[in-house]
Amino acid sequence: MTERAEIDNIDKAREAEILKAEHELVWPSPEIRTNAWVTDYEALYKQSLDHPERFWAEQALALDWYKPWDKVLDESEKPFYKWFVGAHTNIVQNALDRHLHTHRRNKLALIWEGEPGDTRTFSYHALAREVAKFASVLRSMGVKRGDRVTIYMGRVPELVIAMLATAKLGAVHSVVYGGFSTEALADRIEDAQSRVLVTADGGYMRGKIVNLKQTADEAVQRSGYVEHVVVVKRTGHAVAMESGRDYWWHDLMNLPIASPRIETEILDAEHPLFILYTSGTTGRPKGILHTHGGYQVHVATTLRWVFDIKDEDRYWCAADPGWITGHSYIVYGPLILGATSFMYEGAPNFPYPNRWWQLIERYSLNILYTAPTAIRGLMRFGESWPQRYDLSSLRLLGTVGEPINPEAWRWYHRVIGQGRCPIMDTWWQTETGGFMIAPVPSVALKPGSATRPLPGIVVDVVTEDGKSCGPNEDGLLVVKRPWPGMLRTVYRDPDRFVEQYWSKFKDRGWYLTGDSARKDDDGYLWVIGRIDDVIKVAGYRLGTAEVESALVSHQAIAEAAVIGVPDDVKGSVIHAFCILRAGVQTPTEDDVKAHVRKEMGAIAVPSKITFVPSLPKTRSGKIMRRVLKARALGQPEGDVSTLET
Ligand code: WTA
Repeated sequence: MTERAEIDNIDKAREAEILKAEHELVWPSPEIRTNAWVTDYEALYKQSLDHPERFWAEQALALDWYKPWDKVLDESEKPFYKWFVGAHTNIVQNALDRHLHTHRRNKLALIWEGEPGDTRTFSYHALAREVAKFASVLRSMGVKRGDRVTIYMGRVPELVIAMLATAKLGAVHSVVYGGFSTEALADRIEDAQSRVLVTADGGYMRGKIVNLKQTADEAVQRSGYVEHVVVVKRTGHAVAMESGRDYWWHDLMNLPIASPRIETEILDAEHPLFILYTSGTTGRPKGILHTHGGYQVHVATTLRWVFDIKDEDRYWCAADPGWITGHSYIVYGPLILGATSFMYEGAPNFPYPNRWWQLIERYSLNILYTAPTAIRGLMRFGESWPQRYDLSSLRLLGTVGEPINPEAWRWYHRVIGQGRCPIMDTWWQTETGGFMIAPVPSVALKPGSATRPLPGIVVDVVTEDGKSCGPNEDGLLVVKRPWPGMLRTVYRDPDRFVEQYWSKFKDRGWYLTGDSARKDDDGYLWVIGRIDDVIKVAGYRLGTAEVESALVSHQAIAEAAVIGVPDDVKGSVIHAFCILRAGVQTPTEDDVKAHVRKEMGAIAVPSKITFVPSLPKTRSGKIMRRVLKARALGQPEGDVSTLET
């Protein structure tokens, strides 16, 4: 954890915005409020505080269980909490199987459009059938309960099918974002020790083909665990297929082994569902582990509360399934609720900045959930693009991933929501599994605030020594009670789980989020930003350590430090400071960028690289990133008494 000074240093701008927006109450329309799932937030919140276990049990009863739980919450080995102990379940039973006996059997589960404009749709029946067939394929490759399957592709339906097929078998998926590259993928395969990799020949992104298979091949070679590679033919360009290891998805799915008749495995509620790697304070990415029982309750319940999903709704979460938002709110949450989801392969502004608005009109979408960076990016093109389209189908809008600046909030509300659609600003993390702080559509909103904690969720803003901060005082955001969607551990590293999240307030049993925040006079929460070495670039979560390790793998670079500097569209961008090896020729900035792109992926490429003779360090050798940041921003360096001279 870096010093408090870091927060003070960078977030003056956010502070000024908060002060301005704090008194601006925006109420959803009476129609939206009265028809919302949650009409009385205060009452529901109070009920959840008075009887937390009973409260979550009631939410869990909305789902199917093969066998009910004996105990809602087991705190005997905290912080290794267990939920719905003794219950038997499988998230696929709730996401697919149970709908097949209802009117939803022939309802659309997924509407998909590719970047070139090709479309595919799946009813619940059709999706369940594809999932069952692919589960049979995986089983024929020897995948069984607890085995890890790594999935690496773009935003195509097969990604969703592969995730659900893995879960159906009780195996554990590890989805690696398709924008990551060789080193990032190899590290994740290696940590998960996956024997099976599911990928695609390529993906479309802004008119270009991303060569996923080639990256996958290099990663498989480096990591050394993978025995079988299944390849979805998406682009059709020529790729190398290694005989005996690589198989085309469509070939396998046409074989008799791809039987749709396969039972969903009956699992304990605490059986692992997925690992999702994310960046933390130090070192390599952490495999955040989620399990079937509590996670399904959390994502389904919160999605219904916040986005108010109705049976006839068409819902669009524009995130990527490769990140937690996609896991919880493209794949599992909407399917459990029996909703119709829309998924789009490409970027918002390709080939023109009308693409999203055209999609909303074409498919008559009711809910749009995206990130501040996308909103700011589209805002730059002006109002005339969205104004050419009929956006009257929209009822609710959402945002996630980083604090939204009130200016972007207002634009989203006024131009896209036409003043009619409330904005659900959802604060949560890979670790929390689902929404934690977010409005329900019956409460007053404030532009730039995620409002208040959801029922069942107890959060606070505290000082370093654990005292609740007063109104408008910056502090650490903590969660004070366990919640069903919480991470269960860091995969193969339980010590890191305890150390990272639970050690700071060990005696009190609070979860440390790694964010700073403040509460205003009305109890509304304003998240300020990260206080550790995580940088949010365009909403993507990157660890300084991982980017630095990609930099120093360049043959000319001896040491590197990266910082996030504010950016109008992306929130932050990366600025890298590198020390060269003795006697080498200085590489060009482009050469270093290309290297990072190859190792980590485009999202990790620094926007600026500065070669320096030394880096500011403490006497114990820790790089003082806040000093670098202050220098980069031309701000005072603050307390440098610990700086090595
Ligand atoms: C940030 C994304 C402000 C925060 C779901 C958090 C936000 C980190 C918001 C988790 C929001 C997410 N307002 N900040 N509405 N949502 N964050 O794991 O810093 O990719 O700790 O999960 O994103 O990022 P992650």
